[in-house]
Amino acid sequence: MSILPDKVAIVTGGANGIGRAIAIRFAAEGARVVVSDRDTAHGQELVGSIVAAGGQAVFVRADVSMDHDMDLLFRRALDIYGGVHIMVNNAGIEGANVAIGEYDIAEFDRVIDVNLRGVFLGMQAALKHMATSGGGVILNMSSVAGLKGFATLAPYTASKHAVIGLTKAAALEYAAQHIRVNAICPGAVVTDMIHRITKNDPAVEASYAKLQPIGRMGTPDEIAEVALFLCSDASSFLTGVALPADGGIMAG
Ligand SMILES: NC(=O)c1ccc[n+]([C@@H]2O[C@H](COP(=O)([O-])OP(=O)(O)OC[C@H]3O[C@@H](n4cnc5c(N)ncnc54)[C@H](O)[C@@H]3O)[C@@H](O)[C@H]2O)c1
Repeated sequence: MSILPDKVAIVTGGANGIGRAIAIRFAAEGARVVVSDRDTAHGQELVGSIVAAGGQAVFVRADVSMDHDMDLLFRRALDIYGGVHIMVNNAGIEGANVAIGEYDIAEFDRVIDVNLRGVFLGMQAALKHMATSGGGVILNMSSVAGLKGFATLAPYTASKHAVIGLTKAAALEYAAQHIRVNAICPGAVVTDMIHRITKNDPAVEASYAKLQPIGRMGTPDEIAEVALFLCSDASSFLTGVALPADGGIMAG
């Protein structure tokens, strides 16, 4: 039996990396997935492969930091599938990898626009819809950088701490309306983002692997399993949680 039969799930940043793995996993469990991203080529290619495998998915291009795009994304999802039950606010960028003294302020704004404003816009659109349609589930992609400091990634770290703040406040505001709001805090996961941060330098990649007590980076599929748990009825008593999926980093 499927875990998400006929649920409509929007996944932002769904064209690549962790979002892509979530879209594939949710579709395999019977969800109708709205893959959204600003990367149209990879988003459309992913939808093609989900549909070819017998799943249901559509692609809607949206930049999460733009109000107009978020409105359009919701209108398209509602027009196509008639509802939205699950909202995964996954899109995020790492920004520059330099100390605060050298950090460009326009780059700071860019990180906050995507990682914080984008999550807020996605939550607001989802909460408005779910509050009048019987409830739903929201999942925000934070990071272990939302739970502890990371040198040379201060705006990213600040944005991911803020995502946990939004998650907790929304969980309190909407618990009575049957909307659960949780966050995942991944450790280092092998995606393009990590390759950009490490510049594909094997020595740096090895040091990133060692950040996790279990001695390796995670895979997008491992994070997708946690996302499936948090978006399914298996986690029906969890709301306001920021769950580390980090190979043990936060145990230290
Ligand atoms: N990879 C990791 O180690 C790691 C660890 C902790 C948290 N995260 C978080 O997980 C999420 C996914 O990261 P990833 O590693 O898969 O990254 P990625 O760069 O591989 O993929 C991110 C996706 O988001 C899209 N995106 C970026 N900005 C966007 C915008 N403004 N509007 C719409 N789409 C946008 C990109 O086009 C891309 O498809 C991010 O929020 C990231 O911060 C990643």
